[in-house]
This record gives sequence, C-alpha cells and structure tokens, in this order.
Amino acid sequence: MMKYMGSKRRICKDILPIMLKNRHSGQYFVEPFCGGCNVIAHVDGNRLAADINPYLIAMFQSLVKGERPPSIINKQIYEKARNQYRCGVGILSDFEIGWIGFMASFRAKFFGRYAGSSNDGRDYVQEAIDNIKPQIKLLKGIRFECCDYRQLLIPRHSIVYCDIPYKGTTRFGNTPTFSYNAFYKWCFLMKNEGHTLFISEYAMPNDFQLVWEKPIVKNLGNQKPTRAERLYTL
Ligand SMILES: C[S@@+](CC[C@H](N)C(=O)[O-])C[C@H]1O[C@@H](n2cnc3c(N)ncnc32)[C@H](O)[C@@H]1O
Repeated sequence: MMKYMGSKRRICKDILPIMLKNRHSGQYFVEPFCGGCNVIAHVDGNRLAADINPYLIAMFQSLVKGERPPSIINKQIYEKARNQYRCGVGILSDFEIGWIGFMASFRAKFFGRYAGSSNDGRDYVQEAIDNIKPQIKLLKGIRFECCDYRQLLIPRHSIVYCDIPYKGTTRFGNTPTFSYNAFYKWCFLMKNEGHTLFISEYAMPNDFQLVWEKPIVKNLGNQKPTRAERLYTL
C-alpha cells in the first residue's frame, strides 16, 4: 500500500467493519480526504474518492487507467519535477509530478526532499514503487475527484469517511490552512442531508460520538509516547 502522511493503513482493518456494518446494497462509500487511498482500497461496491491535491488525484486516475509512470526517478528528475511543482513551468504532466513527488520524497512528504537510498543499499524509491503496485488493482472502479471537500457532490445517503489532517500536525504539501470549525459545520450539514459520517481525529466536539479507539505506539528515538487513534461518528 502507498506510504502516505497520516496513512490509516495500520488501522483500516479495525475501523472498516464499524463503518460498513450497516451498509446497504448500492450505498456509496465516500472519502473526501482520500490521501493514499489506504482505506477505500479495501472497500468494494460503489466508491467515490476525492482530495484537494491535484497531483495525487491525477496520479491515481492515470495508474488505474493503466498509464505507465516514469520507471526511474533519480535526483535530477526529482529536482526537475520539484521546480515545476513550485514554479508551474515545465512539460511534466500532473500524473508525472504526482508520481515523482510521492514515490521519491523522503517519508512521503510531498517534495520535502529526495528519498534516494541508504548507506546499507536500501532503495527507498524502489520500495515506494513496489508498495503501491499491488494497490492499483484494488482502486479499479473508484470514481476520483479533485476538489475541496465542501465542493464534493456526494451521492444520496452515503457513508462518508473523513480522514482530515489532524489538528496540530504537519500540513499537507499544497493544502490551504484547514478550518476545523468550518469542517464541523459541514459535518452537520451532511448529516442533515442524510449521510452517515465517520471522522478520524484525536478529539472532536461533544456532539460527535466516539465509536472506536486504540492506543498507537510511535517510535521517536528513545522515547515511545503513546497516543490513541480515534473514530467518531455523527
Ligand atoms: C490524513 S490524509 C488522508 C490519508 C488517507 N486516509 C490514507 O490512509 O492514506 C488527509 C488528506 O486530506 C487532504 N486535504 C486537506 N485539506 C483538504 C480539503 N480542504 N479538501 C479535501 N482534501 C483535503 C490532504 O491532501 C490529505 O491527502
């Protein structure tokens, strides 16, 4: 599966049965913040995935169509793609910029810095490519959209899973500042329209109900602080 900042790869097997428990036939599963598609890839039936990052969506759309990405991403190609991403001038397609930025950035931080390889010969770029390959077939049939979550047209009575950027964490590449209050308001609006909402966050206002939590140990050098992954509903 694709390495992605804030990926829910490790917890999707815990949260999906909760979100899909009462899904009825034909009901859409919608992810307005799909990121690396590490959750929606494991859902079948009608699916809609969206994200505000145009390079990410172009990448998935092209991969699903069977288009071939550049197979070699050396530092020179990486710099060229990063310049185009930053300045908007160049001949690479959004697909190519997305592919290079996600496959070859250190710790999947979009155009943070080139991942390259380690002294002991680990090729991080090739590892990222090998990780995403088996995922592509799982994404076939998903409708992809690129937009802000508020612009997304959600099919009637959908299950909507929102994996928003956690409060107080690193911002995602080109995303504008995230307004949490605007997001909470939108959740109420969506609920009133008849959708079932689930949200991954560390904490949510009192109107949201906690439906699942699990402590996660994060390795940070010698310290091993624990935090809890949480799933809320409305
Ligand atoms: C935590 S990540 C999702 C990770 C994903 N669940 C996974 O497992 O790979 C959050 C995503 O929200 C997207 N995002 C941030 N602000 C957004 C907005 N206003 N509308 C839509 N997507 C947004 C970011 O580009 C990022 O891909």
